[in-house]
Amino acid sequence: MLFLEQVDIQGKRVLMRVDYNVPLDDGVITDDNRIRASLPTINYILDKGASLVLCSHLGKPKGKKKPKLSLKPVAERLQELLDRDVIMAPDCIGEEVFALAQNLKPGQVMLLENLRFHPGEQKNDPDFARELAKMGEVYVNDAFGVAHRAHASVVGVVKNISVCCAGLLLEKEWKYLSRALQNPERPFVAVSGGAKVSSKLGIINSLLDKVDRLIIGGAMANTFLRAQGVNMGRSLVEEDLIPEAREILAKARQKGVSLYLPVDFIAGTGPDGEIGSGVCPYQDIPQEEMALDIGPATHILFTEALKCARTVVWNGPMGAFENSHFAMGSKNLAETIASLDALTIVGGGDTDALIHKAGLTGKFSFISTGGGSFLQFLEGRELPAFKALEECGQ
Ligand code: 3PG
Repeated sequence: MLFLEQVDIQGKRVLMRVDYNVPLDDGVITDDNRIRASLPTINYILDKGASLVLCSHLGKPKGKKKPKLSLKPVAERLQELLDRDVIMAPDCIGEEVFALAQNLKPGQVMLLENLRFHPGEQKNDPDFARELAKMGEVYVNDAFGVAHRAHASVVGVVKNISVCCAGLLLEKEWKYLSRALQNPERPFVAVSGGAKVSSKLGIINSLLDKVDRLIIGGAMANTFLRAQGVNMGRSLVEEDLIPEAREILAKARQKGVSLYLPVDFIAGTGPDGEIGSGVCPYQDIPQEEMALDIGPATHILFTEALKCARTVVWNGPMGAFENSHFAMGSKNLAETIASLDALTIVGGGDTDALIHKAGLTGKFSFISTGGGSFLQFLEGRELPAFKALEECGQ
Protein backbone atom coordinates (compact mmCIF):
# COMPACT_ATOMS: atom_id res chain seq x y z
CA MET A 1 0.00 0.00 0.00
CA LEU A 2 1.33 3.44 -0.91
CA PHE A 3 1.07 6.38 1.47
CA LEU A 4 0.41 9.97 0.42
CA GLU A 5 3.89 11.22 1.25
CA GLN A 6 5.36 8.70 -1.23
CA VAL A 7 3.32 10.01 -4.15
CA ASP A 8 4.06 12.98 -6.42
CA ILE A 9 0.90 15.08 -6.49
CA GLN A 10 2.40 18.41 -7.50
CA GLY A 11 0.03 20.13 -9.95
CA LYS A 12 -2.23 17.06 -10.13
CA ARG A 13 -5.97 16.79 -9.62
CA VAL A 14 -6.54 14.55 -6.58
CA LEU A 15 -9.76 12.62 -5.98
CA MET A 16 -10.05 11.91 -2.26
CA ARG A 17 -12.58 9.64 -0.53
CA VAL A 18 -13.41 11.05 2.90
CA ASP A 19 -15.99 9.95 5.47
CA TYR A 20 -18.21 12.97 6.00
CA ASN A 21 -21.09 10.83 7.28
CA VAL A 22 -21.73 13.33 10.07
CA PRO A 23 -24.80 13.56 12.32
CA LEU A 24 -27.30 16.17 11.13
CA ASP A 25 -30.19 17.70 13.02
CA ASP A 26 -32.48 19.56 10.64
CA GLY A 27 -29.58 20.33 8.31
CA VAL A 28 -27.28 21.41 11.16
CA ILE A 29 -24.11 19.38 11.79
CA THR A 30 -24.09 18.32 15.44
CA ASP A 31 -20.58 16.81 15.47
CA ASP A 32 -17.95 17.90 12.95
CA ASN A 33 -15.22 15.61 14.22
CA ARG A 34 -14.96 13.64 10.98
CA ILE A 35 -14.59 16.85 8.96
CA ARG A 36 -11.83 18.08 11.28
CA ALA A 37 -10.09 14.70 11.08
CA SER A 38 -9.69 15.15 7.30
CA LEU A 39 -8.05 18.60 7.52
CA PRO A 40 -4.39 17.50 7.81
CA THR A 41 -4.63 15.48 4.58
CA ILE A 42 -6.51 18.25 2.77
CA ASN A 43 -3.97 20.88 3.81
CA TYR A 44 -1.07 18.63 2.86
CA ILE A 45 -2.52 18.10 -0.63
CA LEU A 46 -3.26 21.79 -1.20
CA ASP A 47 0.17 22.84 0.08
CA LYS A 48 1.70 20.56 -2.55
CA GLY A 49 0.06 22.61 -5.29
CA ALA A 50 -2.60 20.07 -6.22
CA SER A 51 -6.31 20.66 -6.75
CA LEU A 52 -8.72 18.54 -4.76
CA VAL A 53 -12.01 16.79 -5.48
CA LEU A 54 -13.55 15.35 -2.30
CA CYS A 55 -16.19 12.63 -2.27
CA SER A 56 -18.25 11.09 0.53
CA HIS A 57 -21.55 9.48 1.38
CA LEU A 58 -23.99 10.87 3.94
CA GLY A 59 -26.66 8.70 5.53
CA LYS A 60 -28.57 6.04 3.64
CA PRO A 61 -30.46 7.63 0.71
CA LYS A 62 -30.68 4.19 -0.95
CA GLY A 63 -29.61 5.27 -4.42
CA LYS A 64 -32.07 8.18 -4.62
CA LYS A 65 -31.49 11.90 -4.58
CA LYS A 66 -32.72 13.07 -1.14
CA PRO A 67 -32.19 16.81 -0.62
CA LYS A 68 -32.12 16.33 3.17
CA LEU A 69 -29.00 14.22 2.73
CA SER A 70 -27.15 16.72 0.55
CA LEU A 71 -23.53 17.35 1.52
CA LYS A 72 -24.08 21.10 1.18
CA PRO A 73 -23.94 21.80 4.97
CA VAL A 74 -20.67 19.86 5.05
CA ALA A 75 -19.20 22.01 2.25
CA GLU A 76 -20.14 25.12 4.25
CA ARG A 77 -18.55 23.79 7.44
CA LEU A 78 -15.44 22.70 5.58
CA GLN A 79 -15.15 26.14 4.01
CA GLU A 80 -15.16 27.70 7.50
CA LEU A 81 -12.60 25.25 8.85
CA LEU A 82 -10.26 25.62 5.85
CA ASP A 83 -10.83 29.34 5.54
CA ARG A 84 -11.00 28.99 1.76
CA ASP A 85 -13.77 28.47 -0.80
CA VAL A 86 -15.19 25.00 -1.23
CA ILE A 87 -17.15 24.51 -4.46
CA MET A 88 -20.24 22.35 -3.97
CA ALA A 89 -20.79 20.15 -7.03
CA PRO A 90 -24.38 19.48 -8.18
CA ASP A 91 -23.70 15.72 -8.43
CA CYS A 92 -20.80 13.27 -8.08
CA ILE A 93 -20.55 12.10 -11.71
CA GLY A 94 -21.53 13.44 -15.15
CA GLU A 95 -20.32 15.91 -17.77
CA GLU A 96 -21.10 19.07 -15.80
CA VAL A 97 -19.22 17.88 -12.72
CA PHE A 98 -16.33 16.60 -14.81
CA ALA A 99 -15.99 20.04 -16.44
CA LEU A 100 -15.93 21.69 -13.00
CA ALA A 101 -13.25 19.24 -11.85
CA GLN A 102 -11.12 19.90 -14.91
CA ASN A 103 -11.30 23.63 -14.37
CA LEU A 104 -10.01 23.47 -10.80
CA LYS A 105 -6.77 25.38 -10.27
CA PRO A 106 -4.02 24.31 -7.87
CA GLY A 107 -5.22 24.98 -4.31
CA GLN A 108 -8.92 24.82 -5.22
CA VAL A 109 -11.30 22.39 -3.52
CA MET A 110 -14.58 20.89 -4.70
CA LEU A 111 -16.89 18.58 -2.76
CA LEU A 112 -18.94 16.14 -4.84
CA GLU A 113 -22.58 15.55 -3.93
CA ASN A 114 -23.56 12.45 -1.86
CA LEU A 115 -22.18 9.33 -3.57
CA ARG A 116 -25.13 7.26 -2.35
CA PHE A 117 -27.57 9.32 -4.43
CA HIS A 118 -26.51 6.79 -7.10
CA PRO A 119 -27.26 3.07 -6.60
CA GLY A 120 -23.93 2.25 -8.29
CA GLU A 121 -21.95 3.39 -5.25
CA GLN A 122 -23.08 0.69 -2.84
CA LYS A 123 -23.32 -1.93 -5.60
CA ASN A 124 -19.72 -1.22 -6.56
CA ASP A 125 -20.97 -0.85 -10.11
CA PRO A 126 -18.04 -0.75 -12.58
CA ASP A 127 -19.62 1.96 -14.77
CA PHE A 128 -20.25 4.22 -11.79
CA ALA A 129 -16.70 3.60 -10.51
CA ARG A 130 -15.27 4.51 -13.93
CA GLU A 131 -17.29 7.74 -14.08
CA LEU A 132 -16.22 8.70 -10.57
CA ALA A 133 -12.58 7.91 -11.26
CA LYS A 134 -12.56 10.51 -14.09
CA MET A 135 -12.70 13.22 -11.42
CA GLY A 136 -9.07 12.66 -10.37
CA GLU A 137 -5.62 11.80 -11.70
CA VAL A 138 -4.50 10.48 -8.32
CA TYR A 139 -6.80 8.72 -5.83
CA VAL A 140 -6.38 9.15 -2.09
CA ASN A 141 -8.43 7.16 0.41
CA ASP A 142 -8.72 8.90 3.76
CA ALA A 143 -12.04 7.38 4.83
CA PHE A 144 -11.34 4.82 7.54
CA GLY A 145 -15.02 4.92 8.53
CA VAL A 146 -15.97 3.13 5.29
CA ALA A 147 -12.88 0.93 5.00
CA HIS A 148 -15.14 -2.11 5.61
CA ARG A 149 -17.48 -1.25 2.72
CA ALA A 150 -16.70 -2.72 -0.71
CA HIS A 151 -18.31 0.24 -2.44
CA ALA A 152 -17.37 1.91 -5.74
CA SER A 153 -15.62 4.91 -4.16
CA VAL A 154 -13.56 2.59 -1.93
CA VAL A 155 -12.88 -0.42 -4.13
CA GLY A 156 -14.06 -0.07 -7.76
CA VAL A 157 -12.45 3.32 -8.27
CA VAL A 158 -8.88 2.05 -7.79
CA LYS A 159 -9.16 -0.12 -10.89
CA ASN A 160 -9.54 3.04 -12.96
CA ILE A 161 -6.79 5.28 -11.57
CA SER A 162 -3.15 4.25 -11.84
CA VAL A 163 -1.88 6.05 -8.72
CA CYS A 164 -3.75 5.31 -5.48
CA CYS A 165 -2.65 5.77 -1.91
CA ALA A 166 -3.74 6.08 1.71
CA GLY A 167 -4.20 9.59 3.11
CA LEU A 168 -2.70 10.75 6.41
CA LEU A 169 -5.76 9.79 8.48
CA LEU A 170 -6.10 6.32 6.97
CA GLU A 171 -2.38 5.80 7.50
CA LYS A 172 -2.65 6.88 11.14
CA GLU A 173 -5.62 4.60 11.81
CA TRP A 174 -3.82 1.68 10.17
CA LYS A 175 -0.56 2.27 12.04
CA TYR A 176 -2.13 2.70 15.50
CA LEU A 177 -4.47 -0.26 15.20
CA SER A 178 -1.84 -2.52 13.66
CA ARG A 179 0.66 -1.59 16.36
CA ALA A 180 -1.82 -2.47 19.11
CA LEU A 181 -2.91 -5.75 17.58
CA GLN A 182 0.29 -7.04 16.04
CA ASN A 183 2.99 -5.80 18.32
CA PRO A 184 1.44 -4.65 21.61
CA GLU A 185 3.48 -3.64 24.60
CA ARG A 186 2.26 -5.83 27.46
CA PRO A 187 0.19 -6.11 29.55
CA PHE A 188 -2.37 -5.69 26.76
CA VAL A 189 -5.91 -5.10 28.08
CA ALA A 190 -9.05 -4.98 25.94
CA VAL A 191 -12.25 -3.40 27.22
CA SER A 192 -15.46 -4.37 25.48
CA GLY A 193 -18.84 -2.87 26.25
CA GLY A 194 -22.07 -1.99 24.51
CA ALA A 195 -25.43 -3.63 24.36
CA LYS A 196 -25.10 -6.79 22.33
CA VAL A 197 -22.84 -9.80 22.54
CA SER A 198 -24.07 -10.79 19.07
CA SER A 199 -22.23 -7.85 17.48
CA LYS A 200 -19.01 -8.53 19.42
CA LEU A 201 -18.58 -12.31 19.39
CA GLY A 202 -16.03 -12.28 16.57
CA ILE A 203 -14.03 -9.50 18.20
CA ILE A 204 -13.95 -11.10 21.62
CA ASN A 205 -12.88 -14.43 20.15
CA SER A 206 -10.12 -12.83 18.16
CA LEU A 207 -8.96 -10.61 21.06
CA LEU A 208 -8.67 -13.64 23.35
CA ASP A 209 -5.77 -14.78 21.16
CA LYS A 210 -3.94 -11.51 21.72
CA VAL A 211 -4.69 -9.90 25.09
CA ASP A 212 -3.55 -10.56 28.65
CA ARG A 213 -6.77 -9.34 30.23
CA LEU A 214 -10.28 -8.81 28.92
CA ILE A 215 -12.83 -6.57 30.60
CA ILE A 216 -16.46 -6.99 29.61
CA GLY A 217 -19.02 -4.39 30.66
CA GLY A 218 -22.23 -2.87 29.33
CA ALA A 219 -25.36 -4.89 28.72
CA MET A 220 -23.35 -7.56 26.93
CA ALA A 221 -21.89 -8.59 30.30
CA ASN A 222 -25.41 -9.68 31.32
CA THR A 223 -25.33 -12.63 28.91
CA PHE A 224 -22.02 -13.82 30.40
CA LEU A 225 -23.38 -13.60 33.95
CA ARG A 226 -26.57 -15.37 32.90
CA ALA A 227 -24.36 -18.10 31.39
CA GLN A 228 -22.96 -18.59 34.90
CA GLY A 229 -26.43 -18.97 36.35
CA VAL A 230 -26.94 -15.42 37.65
CA ASN A 231 -30.51 -14.09 37.73
CA MET A 232 -30.41 -10.81 35.80
CA GLY A 233 -33.98 -9.61 36.47
CA ARG A 234 -35.35 -7.80 33.41
CA SER A 235 -31.86 -6.95 32.11
CA LEU A 236 -31.12 -7.39 28.42
CA VAL A 237 -29.84 -10.95 27.99
CA GLU A 238 -29.30 -12.69 24.64
CA GLU A 239 -30.52 -16.12 25.73
CA ASP A 240 -29.63 -17.76 22.40
CA LEU A 241 -25.99 -16.73 22.86
CA ILE A 242 -25.53 -18.31 26.26
CA PRO A 243 -23.71 -21.37 24.80
CA GLU A 244 -21.29 -19.04 22.95
CA ALA A 245 -20.77 -16.99 26.11
CA ARG A 246 -19.85 -20.22 27.95
CA GLU A 247 -17.39 -21.11 25.20
CA ILE A 248 -15.75 -17.69 25.51
CA LEU A 249 -15.42 -18.08 29.28
CA ALA A 250 -13.85 -21.51 28.75
CA LYS A 251 -11.52 -20.21 26.02
CA ALA A 252 -10.32 -17.41 28.32
CA ARG A 253 -9.53 -19.95 31.06
CA GLN A 254 -7.73 -22.21 28.62
CA LYS A 255 -5.67 -19.31 27.19
CA GLY A 256 -4.81 -17.93 30.61
CA VAL A 257 -6.54 -14.62 29.83
CA SER A 258 -8.01 -12.97 32.93
CA LEU A 259 -11.62 -12.12 32.11
CA TYR A 260 -13.34 -9.49 34.26
CA LEU A 261 -17.12 -9.12 34.53
CA PRO A 262 -19.10 -6.61 36.63
CA VAL A 263 -19.62 -7.47 40.29
CA ASP A 264 -22.26 -4.82 40.93
CA PHE A 265 -24.67 -2.67 38.93
CA ILE A 266 -26.85 0.40 39.06
CA ALA A 267 -30.32 -1.05 38.66
CA GLY A 268 -33.15 0.92 37.14
CA THR A 269 -36.49 0.78 35.42
CA GLY A 270 -35.22 1.07 31.84
CA PRO A 271 -32.57 2.79 29.69
CA ASP A 272 -34.74 5.91 29.42
CA GLY A 273 -36.14 5.58 32.93
CA GLU A 274 -35.15 6.26 36.51
CA ILE A 275 -32.79 4.70 39.03
CA GLY A 276 -34.66 1.96 40.89
CA SER A 277 -32.89 0.12 43.68
CA GLY A 278 -29.59 1.82 42.77
CA VAL A 279 -26.36 -0.04 43.56
CA CYS A 280 -26.92 -3.82 43.61
CA PRO A 281 -24.42 -6.67 43.93
CA TYR A 282 -24.65 -8.81 40.77
CA GLN A 283 -26.63 -11.57 42.54
CA ASP A 284 -29.25 -9.14 43.83
CA ILE A 285 -30.76 -7.43 40.82
CA PRO A 286 -34.46 -7.09 41.62
CA GLN A 287 -36.73 -9.20 39.42
CA GLU A 288 -38.54 -6.13 38.04
CA GLU A 289 -35.42 -4.05 37.33
CA MET A 290 -32.54 -3.96 34.87
CA ALA A 291 -28.76 -3.62 35.16
CA LEU A 292 -28.14 -0.26 33.45
CA ASP A 293 -24.65 0.75 34.51
CA ILE A 294 -21.69 -0.81 36.30
CA GLY A 295 -21.51 -0.07 40.03
CA PRO A 296 -18.71 1.38 42.20
CA ALA A 297 -17.20 -2.00 43.19
CA THR A 298 -16.94 -2.91 39.50
CA HIS A 299 -15.21 0.38 38.82
CA ILE A 300 -12.58 -0.49 41.45
CA LEU A 301 -12.19 -4.00 39.99
CA PHE A 302 -11.82 -2.72 36.41
CA THR A 303 -9.35 -0.03 37.54
CA GLU A 304 -7.28 -2.78 39.16
CA ALA A 305 -7.42 -4.82 35.94
CA LEU A 306 -6.17 -1.81 33.98
CA LYS A 307 -3.35 -0.99 36.37
CA CYS A 308 0.11 -1.27 34.77
CA ALA A 309 -1.44 -1.89 31.32
CA ARG A 310 0.86 -0.75 28.51
CA THR A 311 -1.69 -1.15 25.71
CA VAL A 312 -5.45 -0.65 26.01
CA VAL A 313 -8.07 -0.99 23.29
CA TRP A 314 -11.56 0.10 24.28
CA ASN A 315 -14.87 -0.17 22.51
CA GLY A 316 -18.38 0.23 23.87
CA PRO A 317 -19.91 2.01 26.87
CA MET A 318 -20.43 0.41 30.28
CA GLY A 319 -24.11 1.29 30.50
CA ALA A 320 -26.99 3.35 29.13
CA PHE A 321 -24.75 6.43 29.26
CA GLU A 322 -27.08 8.68 27.22
CA ASN A 323 -29.24 8.78 30.36
CA SER A 324 -27.35 10.76 33.03
CA HIS A 325 -28.56 8.33 35.75
CA PHE A 326 -26.54 5.57 34.11
CA ALA A 327 -23.53 7.47 32.76
CA MET A 328 -21.21 7.38 35.75
CA GLY A 329 -19.65 3.95 35.08
CA SER A 330 -18.67 4.85 31.52
CA LYS A 331 -17.39 8.27 32.57
CA ASN A 332 -15.29 6.86 35.40
CA LEU A 333 -13.84 4.20 33.12
CA ALA A 334 -12.98 6.85 30.49
CA GLU A 335 -11.15 8.85 33.17
CA THR A 336 -9.26 5.79 34.37
CA ILE A 337 -8.13 4.80 30.86
CA ALA A 338 -7.27 8.40 29.99
CA SER A 339 -4.96 8.60 33.02
CA LEU A 340 -2.93 5.47 32.16
CA ASP A 341 0.65 5.59 31.05
CA ALA A 342 -0.13 3.35 28.08
CA LEU A 343 -1.00 3.31 24.40
CA THR A 344 -4.75 3.90 24.63
CA ILE A 345 -6.91 3.35 21.57
CA VAL A 346 -10.63 3.94 21.49
CA GLY A 347 -13.16 3.40 18.73
CA GLY A 348 -16.79 3.04 17.82
CA GLY A 349 -19.45 5.73 17.59
CA ASP A 350 -20.87 5.46 21.13
CA THR A 351 -17.50 5.35 22.84
CA ASP A 352 -16.36 8.35 20.88
CA ALA A 353 -19.52 10.24 21.86
CA LEU A 354 -19.13 9.49 25.57
CA ILE A 355 -15.48 10.60 25.54
CA HIS A 356 -16.51 13.91 23.97
CA LYS A 357 -19.27 14.28 26.53
CA ALA A 358 -16.78 13.64 29.34
CA GLY A 359 -14.44 16.31 27.89
CA LEU A 360 -11.57 13.80 27.58
CA THR A 361 -10.98 13.96 23.82
CA GLY A 362 -7.31 14.92 23.95
CA LYS A 363 -6.45 12.41 26.66
CA PHE A 364 -6.19 9.20 24.62
CA SER A 365 -3.35 8.12 22.35
CA PHE A 366 -5.79 7.69 19.49
CA ILE A 367 -9.54 7.93 18.92
CA SER A 368 -10.49 6.06 15.78
CA THR A 369 -12.96 7.67 13.38
CA GLY A 370 -14.30 4.21 12.53
CA GLY A 371 -17.41 2.50 13.85
CA GLY A 372 -18.04 -0.76 11.99
CA SER A 373 -14.61 -0.57 10.35
CA PHE A 374 -12.88 -0.28 13.76
CA LEU A 375 -14.73 -3.37 15.00
CA GLN A 376 -13.89 -5.36 11.88
CA PHE A 377 -10.24 -4.36 12.14
CA LEU A 378 -10.19 -5.57 15.77
CA GLU A 379 -11.75 -8.80 14.61
CA GLY A 380 -8.74 -9.30 12.37
CA ARG A 381 -10.80 -9.19 9.17
CA GLU A 382 -9.25 -7.92 5.97
CA LEU A 383 -10.88 -4.58 5.15
CA PRO A 384 -11.78 -3.99 1.47
CA ALA A 385 -10.23 -0.49 1.45
CA PHE A 386 -6.76 -1.77 2.38
CA LYS A 387 -6.99 -4.73 0.01
CA ALA A 388 -7.96 -2.39 -2.85
CA LEU A 389 -5.06 -0.03 -2.12
CA GLU A 390 -2.64 -2.94 -1.93
CA GLU A 391 -3.82 -4.29 -5.29
CA CYS A 392 -3.80 -0.91 -7.02
CA GLY A 393 -1.19 -0.67 -9.73
CA GLN A 394 -0.50 -4.42 -9.66
C1 3PG B 1 -20.10 5.13 9.63
O1 3PG B 1 -20.74 6.13 9.98
O2 3PG B 1 -19.81 4.21 10.43
C2 3PG B 1 -19.56 5.08 8.23
O3 3PG B 1 -19.66 6.30 7.59
C3 3PG B 1 -20.22 3.97 7.46
O4 3PG B 1 -21.55 4.25 7.25
P1 3PG B 1 -22.56 3.10 6.81
O5 3PG B 1 -22.71 2.19 7.99
O6 3PG B 1 -23.83 3.79 6.41
O7 3PG B 1 -21.93 2.36 5.64
